[in-house]
Amino acid sequence: MDSIPPAAPPEGATARLHDAFKALRDALSAEIVGQSALIERLLIALLADGHLLVEGAPGLAKTSAIRALASRLEADFARVQFTPDLLPADLTGTEVWRPQDGRFEFQSGPIFHPILLADEINRAPAKVQSALLEAMGERQVTVGRATYPLPALFLVMATQNPIEQEGTFPLPEAQLDRFLMHVRIAYPEVDAETEILRLARDRARDAMRAVPEAVDRMPIGDVFDARAAVLDLHVAPAVERYLVEIVLASRDAARYDADLGRRIAWGASPRGSIALERCARAHAWLAGRDYVTPDDVREVAPDVLRHRVLPSYEATAEGWDGGRLVDALLEQVPLP
Ligand SMILES: Nc1ncnc2c1ncn2[C@@H]1O[C@H](COP(=O)(O)OP(=O)(O)OP(=O)(O)O)[C@@H](O)[C@H]1O
Ligand SMILES: [Mg+2]
Repeated sequence: MDSIPPAAPPEGATARLHDAFKALRDALSAEIVGQSALIERLLIALLADGHLLVEGAPGLAKTSAIRALASRLEADFARVQFTPDLLPADLTGTEVWRPQDGRFEFQSGPIFHPILLADEINRAPAKVQSALLEAMGERQVTVGRATYPLPALFLVMATQNPIEQEGTFPLPEAQLDRFLMHVRIAYPEVDAETEILRLARDRARDAMRAVPEAVDRMPIGDVFDARAAVLDLHVAPAVERYLVEIVLASRDAARYDADLGRRIAWGASPRGSIALERCARAHAWLAGRDYVTPDDVREVAPDVLRHRVLPSYEATAEGWDGGRLVDALLEQVPLP
């Protein structure tokens, strides 16, 4: 492994940004307990300019987490409940005829909000899913003959419920690539569950008080400055090579292990490499470092790659999924 350079103390503007993000993380952790991975992934998505697909049972604070994030940013939030009868226009907006002006006027839909929760994305048919996924990829929306740019800050968190598969429309595998990370969340531990009870009581009391508590909101400029700082982090050539090797291994795992090779039908794309690099950078930056370690890569790799590595038909039958394949890949690819 490369010798790790000593951590340079962040100075001036960088130190202020670090403090702002630490305060943001602390505030979210106080509101959403026992889900530190989800909170970290939300911050990574914010820093890496990407979107999250979150899978978890009902009532695991998915909605609360993204709402809490939006409430602490100077950014508007919208939630769209995906249903079988949702139309693409319900998401994008439509051209409305204005008889008094004798022309059409575009009425923008909820997709034009900087922070968007697409709840239960697999309950809407493919047409609506595509409208969202296209917008996520292209950063613009086309309605009729006109194209409208999305806000400069645009973070989608889509949720998927692992139970209740009936009557749902699975996301097309090829389009899953549009998500920076696919996060799976689990039930809280006993201490966290107890803390949730206390928080719920506090909230119920607060709700009866007239004046809601004012919270500090991070200016969007800070988010962009932090993104620039993340892109400036040092990635040693050996670490860069390591993350590329992981992605290459997903395409040709037989080089390491013939069985693993047979288990993977499809590996990660270059979009996967880019996502892995940006998430590793954001992970390092959130940890207060100005360089990326192989551990940063390993830490984010499962969420970055699980939806980009598809098990073969036989492997699926044997109980393999993307996450398990990524774990196996990480065991095979030698550390720098
Ligand atoms: N980890 C947690 N910390 C604090 N509150 C929590 C936590 N988990 C659940 N809750 C509380 O439980 C309730 C349900 O949370 P929320 O609506 O965010 O869940 P969800 O994952 O969006 O559920 P669904 O899948 O049904 O939409 C909320 O009142 C929320 O505050
Ligand atoms: Mg919800």
